[in-house]
Amino acid sequence: MDRLKSSARLMIVSDLDHTMVDHHDPENLSLLRFNALWEANYRHDSLLVFSTGRSPTLYKQLRKEKPMLTPDITIMSVGTEITYGNSMVPDDGWVECLNQKWDRNIVTEETSKFSELTLHAETEQRPHKVSFYVQKEKAQQVMKALSGCLEKRGLNVKIIYSGGMDLDILPQGAGKGQALAYLLKKFKTEGKLPINTLACGDSGNDAELFSIPEVYGVMVSNAQEELLKWHAENAKDNPKIIHATERCAAGIIQAIGRFNLGPSTSPRDVTDFEANVENPNPGNEIVKFYLFYEKWRHAEVENSALYLAGLKANCHPPGVHIHPSGCEKLLRDCIDALKGCYGDKQGKQFRVWVDQVLSTKIGSNTWLVKFTKWELNGEERCGCMVTVLLSSNDESVSEGFTWVHVHQTWLDGLAAKDHTTWFI
Ligand code: GLC
Ligand code: MG
Repeated sequence: MDRLKSSARLMIVSDLDHTMVDHHDPENLSLLRFNALWEANYRHDSLLVFSTGRSPTLYKQLRKEKPMLTPDITIMSVGTEITYGNSMVPDDGWVECLNQKWDRNIVTEETSKFSELTLHAETEQRPHKVSFYVQKEKAQQVMKALSGCLEKRGLNVKIIYSGGMDLDILPQGAGKGQALAYLLKKFKTEGKLPINTLACGDSGNDAELFSIPEVYGVMVSNAQEELLKWHAENAKDNPKIIHATERCAAGIIQAIGRFNLGPSTSPRDVTDFEANVENPNPGNEIVKFYLFYEKWRHAEVENSALYLAGLKANCHPPGVHIHPSGCEKLLRDCIDALKGCYGDKQGKQFRVWVDQVLSTKIGSNTWLVKFTKWELNGEERCGCMVTVLLSSNDESVSEGFTWVHVHQTWLDGLAAKDHTTWFI
């Protein structure tokens, strides 16, 4: 992980289903609140790690369905596959660690003798993970018998039960906890151990995450029975692990606040846009602007000429905005055009979020900020790459930023679509 030159201020290692992602929240509000908090305050000096039971196939599917951020590191298939960055470069060193006393063929042979086990989809069967459904009532007894069988055959496996229905068989050295321990060791060798690490989960395969020393942990309010039971038996007295009172991503935000790991107020929860400068930095500026834009179109902010005038004053007079279609407009004219779309998305599904907001200081008072901006319009989701040039009057940016230049380009293959509602 070369993006950060020194230790991450915070590393969040989060499970996805029912932890980062709330499948009972069709609006994805808590996820969007977390996203805004992360991009405004943490992205530039912290690390986001997703740790999921899903295979790469199902993980990619979830990313299409939900407004998820791009993590720095992705751990998939219950800690058996670790990849880095956008292009998901696999960690081959980790795979090698997993081959010890593991033979997939023996696992499939032995498990086929258990009629209580029903195989998961083909995509979920991975080189170091074999997965089944099993009824809750039968789980304990099957796990015990199975572990005896596999031990007799010379294997050293780990059997994990999650979500009251999934049974995973992995090499003993695998699992979400071991994968995290492996990462921490790697960072330590590089002299970049994160200052704080927060593990977040809801089900059985997350339990291991909470047994890594020095790591803070949050079990979200909606955590599964099997995880709460594990906690009561194994980690009850550890003050670094809490059971949140909020669901999913809201529980993660709650834990950041409880453990004092950094800012814990999502920019989505701040109603006064002008006041939101607790932590002025380029990331915060970008998040704040696109949130205003979403709320403006929802008519969730006041239709204020004064506010638009303020925004306009923050645009460099000759500064231009290059629309993804290639159309060029003065930034100030773009702000004027916002008058015409106030409330046009009221009562409609419309969300805007930004991902991977990263800035480079290119002069004493100038920053080049790059990020991906997404708009969800009803069912249609559309993204573009954005580059923004920001400047300020003074180095401490106490008076805020001036927008000098904005350039957007469509993400692959989207140029042909109808984007008449795309304003800025
Ligand atoms: C994901 C995987 C599944 C696994 C479960 C629990 O749902 O798709 O195969 O059993 O996570 O780890
Ligand atoms: Mg989960």
